[in-house]
Amino acid sequence: KHDVLTTIVVFGASGDLAKKKTYPALFHLFQQKLLPKRTRIIGYARTQMTTDDFNKRVTSFFKPSDPADEVAAFLEICEYVSGKYDVDEDFQRLREEIDTNEHAMNKRESDERVHIYYLALPPSVFVSVGTQIRNNVYDGTCTNRVVIEKPFGHDLDSSRKLSQAIGGLFAEDEIYRIDHYLGKEMVKNILALRFANVFYEAVWTRHYISNVQITFKEPFGTEGRGGYFDEFGIIRDVMQNHLLQVLSIVAMRQPKSLRSEDIRDCKTEVLRRILPIQLEDTLLGQYVGTRDGSKPGYKDDDTVPKDSITPTYAQCVLHVDNDRWRGVPWVIKAGKALDEAKMVIRIQFKDMPNALFPNLARNELVLQVSPKESVSIKTIVKEPGLSTNLAMSELDLSYHKRYQDLKIPDAYATLILDVLNGDHSNFVRSDELDEAWRIFTPLLHQIETEQIVPLPYEYGSRGPKGVDEFPTERAGYKPTAK
Ligand code: BG6
Repeated sequence: KHDVLTTIVVFGASGDLAKKKTYPALFHLFQQKLLPKRTRIIGYARTQMTTDDFNKRVTSFFKPSDPADEVAAFLEICEYVSGKYDVDEDFQRLREEIDTNEHAMNKRESDERVHIYYLALPPSVFVSVGTQIRNNVYDGTCTNRVVIEKPFGHDLDSSRKLSQAIGGLFAEDEIYRIDHYLGKEMVKNILALRFANVFYEAVWTRHYISNVQITFKEPFGTEGRGGYFDEFGIIRDVMQNHLLQVLSIVAMRQPKSLRSEDIRDCKTEVLRRILPIQLEDTLLGQYVGTRDGSKPGYKDDDTVPKDSITPTYAQCVLHVDNDRWRGVPWVIKAGKALDEAKMVIRIQFKDMPNALFPNLARNELVLQVSPKESVSIKTIVKEPGLSTNLAMSELDLSYHKRYQDLKIPDAYATLILDVLNGDHSNFVRSDELDEAWRIFTPLLHQIETEQIVPLPYEYGSRGPKGVDEFPTERAGYKPTAK
């Protein structure tokens, strides 16, 4: 909607998230001419800074190849306001600034107006900033949208408290909870694959699918983020949100329509049927330094307590207890400081029931979310030529080969565009969040009260002992012949 008079306030504008994600995404949308014609972006943070210093900060994560004139034009619509996060006068000043800007953009009575408040802030100040916005900035005569980022609490109880506090300030349809995995190309593609093609949906049940694995691997440790990470651990950092969100889209039934609430209803419905995860169905690890000393262990990080038992690796088996999925194990795996960077969804089908050919290997549908987007189907063919043997092959849709000039925007750009369009489909609703915590909270509490010590694994390895056997033993996964 190009004619909406738009104000975007980025709280925490001097912080890392704003610098690395929010501003580059806003700039990308600006370059693509996807920001409404009349848009102002106000950065707000505690740090006292000149506009020049702020601009340097904001552009430090832009690409060196970005044209200088476009950067300059973008900075024209940006400004910086410094203020505290709990002082009425500072927020009143912000409101005045917004009003002044709207007048400068020729605000008319008839204008549709939107104020977006993007909280690129630690959760400790969410409620204080939300209260200030509500009391001193909120304008009831326009549309208001509040964007927040995880962590949304620490467990079911703390998340409910946070939801209640935020829910007391803003209506649910004003709130956009970011899970940036929902903005990734291949994650957004799942709905299209499943519901725009006749053959996937036909086999998308326990009758044909043996197991599903959703894997997240990072080749680096918590470098610099140990302080944050140690309070959360890999389960809260990646599994309870990103991997579970992906799982819910793979497992949900077809929504009535593509309207956001229909999609979110179906995701929530499937989450409701997931049983809480058992400790016996979990493998935990924590990385140690490499033998040659070139890479540090998790506990070598100065910000991590020397006796930390926080897992940096986990595998869990989940069960979706509904007619479609009963009996199908879902393995989610996530780890830091592993051998590669990869996010992949692997759907393994059952053995072929007749014995006409030997069961060489199972069919698999593999969706690679990162680093390079691809969809491939492991398929058995006759070995080409005079041989009558079977061979494992694949139907391979690698995006970088198939699409020329492939430019996949960062997840944040697509999500901010959704916020501008008022589309909630790719944001987490409060009942979804509640279910996600319900599934993980008993396990997290048990790990903490029983002080379960994770297994060590070497930085850069495939994970702790048992990592490859776990999906086979616990979920019936059959490794594919190479
Ligand atoms: C974040 C986690 O939410 O996701 C990080 O806090 C993790 O620990 C990151 O590194 C991964 O995101 P991406 O987009 O790089 O895969």
